[in-house]
Amino acid sequence: MKVRKAVIPAAGLGTRFLPATKAQPKVMLPVIDIPAIQLVVEEAARGGIEDVLIVTGRGQRAIEDHFDRNLELERFLEDKAKFDELKRIRQISDMAEVHYIRQKEALGLGHAISVAQAHVGDEPFAVMLGDDLIHPSEPLLGQMLRSHDTFGRSVIAAMEVSKQDISLYGCIQAEPFEEHLVRILSIIEKPSPEEAPSNLAVIGRYVFTPEIFDALRRTTPGRAGEIQLTDAINLLAQEQAVYAYRFEGRRFDVGNPLDYLKATVELGAERDDLGPEFRAWLAQFVQREKLV
Ligand code: G1P
Repeated sequence: MKVRKAVIPAAGLGTRFLPATKAQPKVMLPVIDIPAIQLVVEEAARGGIEDVLIVTGRGQRAIEDHFDRNLELERFLEDKAKFDELKRIRQISDMAEVHYIRQKEALGLGHAISVAQAHVGDEPFAVMLGDDLIHPSEPLLGQMLRSHDTFGRSVIAAMEVSKQDISLYGCIQAEPFEEHLVRILSIIEKPSPEEAPSNLAVIGRYVFTPEIFDALRRTTPGRAGEIQLTDAINLLAQEQAVYAYRFEGRRFDVGNPLDYLKATVELGAERDDLGPEFRAWLAQFVQREKLV
């Protein structure tokens, strides 16, 4: 069955990015001039997703305004003959059908996904974490959707990280399956490096069969007292095959200031409009600061 819908949980408080996130949602932080969540919705649209549900929390109106039309701004740009800007602004509201639901309490990522059930219904769907950025040239979601199409099962994106970093992620124990796919035997949320069964980390892209909702209902609070999506995946993996897609491309955790900076530099250097001047400046900067 074709995956038509994606859920983007965006209710997180963004404590790693204070004070920037004191009064604005962390997923609205711009990577250069595009809010992180817009890049994620663009990725969803490229993967053929038609319907996006954003799970928001309190004080996150800016997200809804961003994907809505802004008629006053459109009129202003039209009057000033700023047609390129006008086109960019209009495209945002045309990318996908965007819906919203409020997560009333911050009870964890698993809980955020469970509130999407009424909207998603009984069909497979994607989950895309709003602060995980996959480089726009990487067709990761498309590849995961194809694997889901072939095997009809859930597919989770995964990446090898250092032993030290595994404690920041869901950690996968798996057996080989196909070229890029492994079958998940078990998965645990943020283990210490000593207890981690591998260095294969879950990254923020998932394609789920609807049975995940049933697994979420049976999931009790886990790490940090939250309903963990990872724990529900672990339950699901004991009942039906769940695969992990090994991703080797570029990914940025833009909820983390250092990765955010790296994303800004890399994507800025590649931009047609800013890239040439920025790269020249960067080369001078590296020389001046004797960085290499
Ligand atoms: C969440 C998930 C974790 C996953 C990570 C990917 O953690 O709980 O399993 O590995 O996203 O970015 P968070 O980064 O929200 O703490």
